[in-house]
Amino acid sequence: MSKKKATLSVEGREDIELPVYEPTLGQDVVDVTGLTAQGLFTYDPGFQSTGACESRITFIDGAKGKLLHRGYSIEELAAKSDYLEVSYLLLYGELPTEEQKETFVNTVKNHTMVHEQLRVFFNGFRRDAHPMAIMCGVVGALSAFYHDSLDIHDARHREVTALRLIAKMPTIAAMCYKYAQGQPFMYPRNDLDYAENFLHMMFGVPCEETKISPTLARAMDRIFILHADHEQNASTSTVRLAGSSGANPFACIAAGISALWGPAHGGANEAVLNMLEEIGEPANVEKFIDRAKDKNDPFKLMGFGHRVYKNYDPRATVMRESCHEVLNELGVQDPKLELAMKLEEIALNDPYFKEKKLFPNVDFYSGIILSAIGIPTSMFTVIFALSRTVGWVAHWNEMISNTYKIGRPRQLYTGQTEREFVPLKERK
Ligand code: SDX
Repeated sequence: MSKKKATLSVEGREDIELPVYEPTLGQDVVDVTGLTAQGLFTYDPGFQSTGACESRITFIDGAKGKLLHRGYSIEELAAKSDYLEVSYLLLYGELPTEEQKETFVNTVKNHTMVHEQLRVFFNGFRRDAHPMAIMCGVVGALSAFYHDSLDIHDARHREVTALRLIAKMPTIAAMCYKYAQGQPFMYPRNDLDYAENFLHMMFGVPCEETKISPTLARAMDRIFILHADHEQNASTSTVRLAGSSGANPFACIAAGISALWGPAHGGANEAVLNMLEEIGEPANVEKFIDRAKDKNDPFKLMGFGHRVYKNYDPRATVMRESCHEVLNELGVQDPKLELAMKLEEIALNDPYFKEKKLFPNVDFYSGIILSAIGIPTSMFTVIFALSRTVGWVAHWNEMISNTYKIGRPRQLYTGQTEREFVPLKERK
């Protein structure tokens, strides 16, 4: 057990000794679970200094800008691996052997179709509904299917649920897009790999053979890898909290999708593109930087800053390199890339951004590649949700397969003390 101790001294109370745990990587943690018995709570709105769980899946070193998945760096995984192999790593803890990979890939391929009844759910939405609204609803509706594997305490049931989610999210994501386009849904094809299949379902039409650019498929797969998992972020914490009550796993993932949608989180990629559209040209950058620094202006530089990274988000670096590679291979000159780089250069040299350690995060460049692939801005966060599903389900599985308690934070109450009810006629 823990050898290190922390002592909490509170005026007018006996000192309280608390165990301190040393991680394999990162900061020590003080175990405060015993404080309630001493009549005290900790207070940490936004959980800025709170470790909510023990995990072995992902490690982020915010000071150094490092991101490891089961010990492998995101740079190596993005350069040498593929999304389904990274999914296997996140779920099972090790890179697969050739045989394990083949079995995993084939199993995923055989789960990519959704129940035909699910198509009916789309008809309830207006064609101009935001695709994230549709995705929240349709993924939540998956909890009304699959009654064959609902025992969350059965490891095989959890594995089947994980495989179904990883396999079906691209199909559902593409359906969200096709519905908005008024085009027919495209069935998945088992002769295509994961990213190719997604692009086929997004841009294919029944009238002709789909031609998939290997450059775009590789770029899509790399974007999936870069968004796969990120430790205890807001949406993953939401999935864990929902899962801690024993809720249906598909409903937990739908909760994660909802949390991801916000512009402070996964919705930032869409917000970055809208911001670049609004800035328009490099001459306007300074004006927007000034707005971002103005306390009285709610405007924030979207795609900048991070709760954990106080250095470059390593995913942003890979994404920027990928931007250049994809646009060069496509022979595309996207003025938004030039504008983004100008914005980054000015911001990184501005004392405000330097002092607050605000660097580009994963969302700053992703939209530029997604646009080059032909993905509309409204679909950016849907792609993020598709990619992050494996991270969400890996954390859900890790929690349920270990000892866990229902999440139930406490509060600092500053409301009314007890008072008598006032009958209506006596109220002033
Ligand atoms: C993701 O958690 C994860 O891991 C998330 C994610 C993942 O993979 O799951 O990495 C994905 O969500 C990336 C972040 C995407 N969001 C954005 O790009 C939106 C813009 N960024 C900010 O909203 C903000 O930086 C957050 C939400 C990302 C982080 O907010 P924090 O940690 O609560 O920090 P803060 O808001 O307290 O900021 C600290 C200071 C504040 O100034 P002061 O009050 O100290 O004077 O920095 C300022 C903020 O006003 N600040 C910014 C800014 N971000 C922070 N000022 C201008 N522009 C910004 N973008």
